Amino acid sequence: MKFFIDTAEIDEIRALSKTGMVDGVTTNPTLIAKSGRKFMDVIAEICDIVPGPISAEVTATEADAMIKEGRKLAKIAKNVAVKLPLTVDGLTACKTLRNDGTMVNVTLCFSAAQALLAAKAGATFISPFVGRLDDIGQDGMELIADICEIYGEYPDFATEVLVASVRHPVHVVQAAKLGAHVATLPPKILRQLYDHPLTDKGLAAFLADWAKTGQSIL
Ligand code: G3P
Repeated sequence: MKFFIDTAEIDEIRALSKTGMVDGVTTNPTLIAKSGRKFMDVIAEICDIVPGPISAEVTATEADAMIKEGRKLAKIAKNVAVKLPLTVDGLTACKTLRNDGTMVNVTLCFSAAQALLAAKAGATFISPFVGRLDDIGQDGMELIADICEIYGEYPDFATEVLVASVRHPVHVVQAAKLGAHVATLPPKILRQLYDHPLTDKGLAAFLADWAKTGQSIL
């Protein structure tokens, strides 16, 4: 499973990319606004830090304008993945940008039917928002199961399932069990994946016992 980081905060991306666990980054207009940075500048900086796919979202809503914006974003760096909302205009723009050879992340997916259309449009990634479905009392992970089942029936579908709107480590484990290709994680959740109190406790005990030996390895 690939892990992308869902943020536009450069310091977080730089720190976490050092762990070797970061395979890409996703941003959206809200995350860009939170960063307080100029959109094109922050995407260029992220592309320099992380060699994997860096999602940068268009803000136009009509296909021709989406294509124009997408082509401008794609020029920032070769690892830019243009993010398009799952609307009929977004799907139209997806086909054109994919024909250009540009990676496309189709976002704001909330149904299996939408995901089927994104695969038909040749999307590189589909981003179903599990947390926002959970937030309204639906089962976001059921959508991931449906998408993985459908995509599994069509080997010619090259679209990768990029689980988004992740709220906790259980979402990540459940998505991995379903065979989702990618999970995009807020930095806090990536840290929660490796932090465990019993690991800390066990390590402290090992080191305390080792100290008693008076030995050192180097
Ligand atoms: O960036 C796409 C998605 O991960 C946003 O999730 O937390 O705003 O529901 P969230």
